[in-house]
Amino acid sequence: MNSPRIHILHENDDWLPPLHAALDAAGLPYTDWSLAGGSIDLTAQPPEGVFWSRLSASSHTRGHGAAKDYARALYRWLEASGRRVVNGSRVVELEVSKAAQYAALAAAGFDVPRTTVVVGRGDLKSRAREFPTPFITKHNQGGKGLGVRRFNSHADFDAYADGPDFEEPADGITLLQEFVESAAPFISRAEFVGGEFVYAVRVDTSGGSFELCPAEACAIPEQGFAPAACEVPAQNDGGALALAGTFTAGGAAAAGATSAPPLFVKRDDITAGHPLIVRLGSFLAAQGVEVAGVEFFETDDGRLIPYDINTNTNYSPDVESATGNAGATAVATFLGRELAARYSTVPA
Ligand SMILES: Nc1ncnc2c1ncn2[C@@H]1O[C@H](COP(=O)(O)OP(=O)(O)O)[C@@H](O)[C@H]1O
Ligand SMILES: [Mg+2]
Repeated sequence: MNSPRIHILHENDDWLPPLHAALDAAGLPYTDWSLAGGSIDLTAQPPEGVFWSRLSASSHTRGHGAAKDYARALYRWLEASGRRVVNGSRVVELEVSKAAQYAALAAAGFDVPRTTVVVGRGDLKSRAREFPTPFITKHNQGGKGLGVRRFNSHADFDAYADGPDFEEPADGITLLQEFVESAAPFISRAEFVGGEFVYAVRVDTSGGSFELCPAEACAIPEQGFAPAACEVPAQNDGGALALAGTFTAGGAAAAGATSAPPLFVKRDDITAGHPLIVRLGSFLAAQGVEVAGVEFFETDDGRLIPYDINTNTNYSPDVESATGNAGATAVATFLGRELAARYSTVPA
């Protein structure tokens, strides 16, 4: 058990099967390490190997509210002990804070949605007045569309902010954000592994859901997939995106049930040389983010707006099967290379 291996630090088993399969296919040794709870003997040495963080900002929705603080403590110990942690302690802070993401993106010159950070409820209504309608709320510690709602009037927002339906954010921080009207009803997501662009996908948003996790285990019934293993926020019904377009909601490719188009489709027009991809690649490298899916909007007037950095990225089963599991394979190859670079017993 002490031989060097890849340690997968996570708290959601449902997201791991495609990654385990890719690691198995590559013949790499790995083990899972739960962030749901545990203990650390700080006087001991960590096990040998390369550690890969799959901490998720939405861990509290699975009853694992301490995962981010466990990760903070654990990764510091691992790093202080000289262990290689992919998406380590620095990346934790980006994963659990959209404010941190927007600040870093803006400082790097990206066009990000105008956003105000509101701690507690006190300033919500007055700060919301600074935004024209429609505007969006979302949780600073997000994922799965947590707290994402569209408001078409300040009166509606006031009622929400004062009322019992208000969704308390895990860290007490609600973001108010400019509503971005996409040119067409989809968002895009660019996947990066080990500094390399893997592929970009378009995600159909015409169904109005804000929960766009690509993992099969997160698919929601109204999108035509199998029953959800992720908890889907029920509160989004009042805030459905009303984007114009002719796309049909559906994710039938995963279920094989109907002929509706899949929600996730690879974008062949976005390649490694695309200016946004080049800039995002440099940005992620500067931030120490090694595995990520970056979501962005494209508007009618040509704005390219990154708005969500997922550092525990999941890959769409549809796109993966169409690309020979390019995402999961890239992760396995990258982690295998990192392991081989440190331990001569591991074949490169
Ligand atoms: N500013 C915005 N304007 C319009 N739609 C938005 C905006 N922010 C988020 N959305 C929609 O809500 C979804 C979830 O928001 P996101 O910021 O990605 O949060 P999460 O981390 O929960 O995925 C997005 O993929 C997009 O479809
Ligand atoms: Mg998102």
